[in-house]
Amino acid sequence: MASKNIVLIGFMGSGKTVVSKALSKQLGWKRVSVDEIIEEQEGCRITEIFKRKGEAYFRLQEARAVKDLAQQTNVIIDCGGGIVLNPENVVVLKQTGTVFFLHATPDVIYDRLKNDKTRPLLQVPQPQEAITELFNQRLPLYRRAADIEINSNDPHLSVPVDEILKKL
Ligand code: S3P
Repeated sequence: MASKNIVLIGFMGSGKTVVSKALSKQLGWKRVSVDEIIEEQEGCRITEIFKRKGEAYFRLQEARAVKDLAQQTNVIIDCGGGIVLNPENVVVLKQTGTVFFLHATPDVIYDRLKNDKTRPLLQVPQPQEAITELFNQRLPLYRRAADIEINSNDPHLSVPVDEILKKL
């Protein structure tokens, strides 16, 4: 592979964390998570950051973390679902490696996240509608950012892992 890193993007619940951990194991590459870096720097969870400082503050930290992580090589970068909202993030991520879009459909995402309390954007009265609306807004952004799109609807996330390994 000519590129230096593997970058995983996609909606919340599309399997980025599970897939990045499996790839890390199989390739012997380090996994880095944009969300985890921010949580470490802030000393609290994403939900708390949203609550105390707001989404705009989180997005600034996200952009900063992307720039830092992109300096590394031979890493698998697990991005938060909103990373593509900032076009500068997309430029940086595309320069740093091959960008894989894990594409799970809104129904599958809802099913995976219906009891989740860790995604502040989905703690709303109608989470299924929120997922569909956000997903539809973001789909063109994921597609524009991606080098390769991978279906991640399968409950056995070894399927997208194998697909990615084949493409490298
Ligand atoms: C977000 C996705 C989350 C996290 C934050 C915002 C989003 O990451 O960055 O809650 O805007 O889609 P995951 O995609 O890992 O859940």
